[in-house]
Amino acid sequence: MSDLATPVPTAAAEGVPEPPTQETARDEVLVLDFGGQYSQLIARRVRECGAFAELLPHDTPLDDLQARSPRGLILSGGPASVYEEGAPSLRAEVLELGVPVLGICYGMQAMVLELGGRVESAPVGEFGRSSLKVREPGRLLAGLPDEQSCWMSHRDTVFEPPPGFTALASSDQSPVAALEDNERGLYGIQFHPEVVHTPYGTQILDRFLREVCGLPMDWSAASVVEEQIARIREQVGDGQVICGLSGGVDSSVAALLTHRAVGDQLTCVFIDHGLMRLNEGEQVVAAFRDHFEVPLVAVDAEERFLARLAGVTDPEAKRKAIGSEFIRCFEEEAAKLGSLKYLVQGTLYSDVIESGGSAGAATIKSHHNVGGLPEDLEFELVEPLRWLFKDEVRQVGAELGMSERLVWRQPFPGPGLAIRIVGDEVNRERLDVLRAADFVLQDEVRKAGLYRELWQSFCVLPAGVRAVGVQGDGRSYGYVVAIRAVTSDDAMTADWARLPYDLLDRVASRMVNEIPQVNRVVLDITSKPPGTIEWE
Ligand code: XMP
Repeated sequence: MSDLATPVPTAAAEGVPEPPTQETARDEVLVLDFGGQYSQLIARRVRECGAFAELLPHDTPLDDLQARSPRGLILSGGPASVYEEGAPSLRAEVLELGVPVLGICYGMQAMVLELGGRVESAPVGEFGRSSLKVREPGRLLAGLPDEQSCWMSHRDTVFEPPPGFTALASSDQSPVAALEDNERGLYGIQFHPEVVHTPYGTQILDRFLREVCGLPMDWSAASVVEEQIARIREQVGDGQVICGLSGGVDSSVAALLTHRAVGDQLTCVFIDHGLMRLNEGEQVVAAFRDHFEVPLVAVDAEERFLARLAGVTDPEAKRKAIGSEFIRCFEEEAAKLGSLKYLVQGTLYSDVIESGGSAGAATIKSHHNVGGLPEDLEFELVEPLRWLFKDEVRQVGAELGMSERLVWRQPFPGPGLAIRIVGDEVNRERLDVLRAADFVLQDEVRKAGLYRELWQSFCVLPAGVRAVGVQGDGRSYGYVVAIRAVTSDDAMTADWARLPYDLLDRVASRMVNEIPQVNRVVLDITSKPPGTIEWE
């Protein structure tokens, strides 16, 4: 066992995505995913170091690997024991491509086993912080301290390196915690360089990329702007393009890149379903139509959506009602615009990876069907963010001159405030109450300088509940507002944010004073799992 379990992406069968351009293909690193929980993080860290990296399934056909001409390969960690039946195997040919290979955790163990070293399941695992003692720095650890802390997560352990390898370091429970064979360009580390708890991890990755792979280290998210603009031009030619704007950072950056590429061949459509936060619709129009001068059709569809939501309380029924109304609206607007061939979507690299890994996963909430468009729309997709992680999209947004507010906007669900009015139907009065409460929370969170630190912060209105209070000299019977604020890296897990008491105090007192319908404020202190971030 090397890592906590996450499913191994199975996208290989559906084909490996094309690399962005021939030029970047020459300078890329491929991370082969053996199912580790940190695999995406490895790719992100490599990119932060300045080299383009992609994550591919561990069993990606050799021809595909060769066709990409990577400058380096990284083998990720994984949850299995190398001795477990059905454990993802490392093909010897991967080590013989003539490309430097760095095995991390399971990746190292699989390499050692394949090449004739000794890997055994140790009686005691090594999980968490450990101390690394460097005996021989070799090429990989040169210039780094002799003793450093590192993050471990494994039970299988390397006891002897394969012939030709030098053992570089050991840790409390790992006789061989780092090794290398410079002749063959093969390297292995038992610890996780990609996590922040390995303070020299980035430097080790950087050494592998710079010294071993000889990469120029000149990649940055901003450097893809020109490249993507060229790609969009090439794909679209003189065709007409449509983009559905949601007000979120992904669709906004995708739209702006496309506008830079093809100018007024792009028309953006913003459907205001009336479920946005206070002034958000106006902000989208001001940013795109007025500031960036992007052709924009803004549709006030509040009445239609509220009519569809009347009497609906079931969360999934709500999502379906909003989703289908959204598609109908979008299709109507597209039809008015005449012959459009291309549709811009803000698909991110993590969506690309996850869509390969989610087969058979239980539907907890039908997220991605909402605010999305059906697959049978007759558009060709333009997806300029397909290779970027979220933080990189933000960098591109900043590069394109987007406001700080838009670049750093917290995630907001497609069905908007409708899934935050729970237990009774969504109507305008309740939306107004929730919008007012949400405004107070955002305002105070921003003033406290905490907005960026929180993955999401929002309010929920349990609409079926009323509470008794005393306001002035009288009894009140009003709404309860729940505050939900979480920290998270990817929304898969989340912890409730420990907001300062004085901030909570200001928020609660402003809410009950400024919103007559509200007389009670509560705080949601549930983590995910077992809770989810949204209430429904
Ligand atoms: P949960 O509530 O499942 O949410 O922990 C995880 C992330 O997804 C967002 N979310 C949605 N996004 N349509 C969306 O576009 C939806 O129906 C939806 N439901 C939840 C949620 O805000 C969080 O960021």
